[in-house]
Amino acid sequence: MKLRIAIQKSGRLNEDSLDILKNCGVSIDNGKDQLKASARNFPMEVFYLRNGDIPQYLKDGVVDIAIIGENVLFEKGEGITVAEKLGFSKCKVSMAIPKGKQYTSFKDFEGKRIATSYPNTVNKFLEQNGINADIHLINGSVEIAPNIGLADAICDIVSSGSTLFKNNLKEVEVLLKSEAVLAVSPKIDNERKVILDKLLFRIQSVLKARQ
Ligand code: PRP
Ligand code: MG
Repeated sequence: MKLRIAIQKSGRLNEDSLDILKNCGVSIDNGKDQLKASARNFPMEVFYLRNGDIPQYLKDGVVDIAIIGENVLFEKGEGITVAEKLGFSKCKVSMAIPKGKQYTSFKDFEGKRIATSYPNTVNKFLEQNGINADIHLINGSVEIAPNIGLADAICDIVSSGSTLFKNNLKEVEVLLKSEAVLAVSPKIDNERKVILDKLLFRIQSVLKARQ
């Protein structure tokens, strides 16, 4: 019996995810060539997946746990629980508009076109504030949208802020703050839960040592 964990295949979380597992004494290959790897010294199988696909795998119970950003869970992670916050990959999900445009309040989004990869997150924000706006779904390079006339505003991840800066945008609303977490499938079985508890114990020791 093995615990099945999903990890981001490439991108910001990949390295830190493997790092924390390594600190837990679990050694695995980095997934650059293989999409599935077995841990050498722990009953665990690793699946390297695209970030956006991971919530569905957790919901279906195809994987038991995952290291993923809270922002992705907020967008499409209903039913998935968080076992531990991992303290890395901190970022915000924010609304931004062209630097030269004035901004007074969220009411300024009324009737505007907003480009984003996070439609549910933006919709929630708009609904909470009683705003009507058009959402344009883009899967990457969202910050270019205002410059090519595709949108008046964007909603995307802000980490260092350099992508906003380079595209002449300014952050005007923070919709949520996020970091990497250990997420758990609602379908995990009891045998694998026992393995998860062992892993969690190690993770908590590592996090304590990092403080
Ligand atoms: C992510 C995100 C932002 C940027 C934020 O994009 O979508 O654009 O990083 O980071 P920063 O504040 O440190 O600049 P990524 O580079 O992963 O590319 P993508 O949007 O094309 O997926
Ligand atoms: Mg981007």
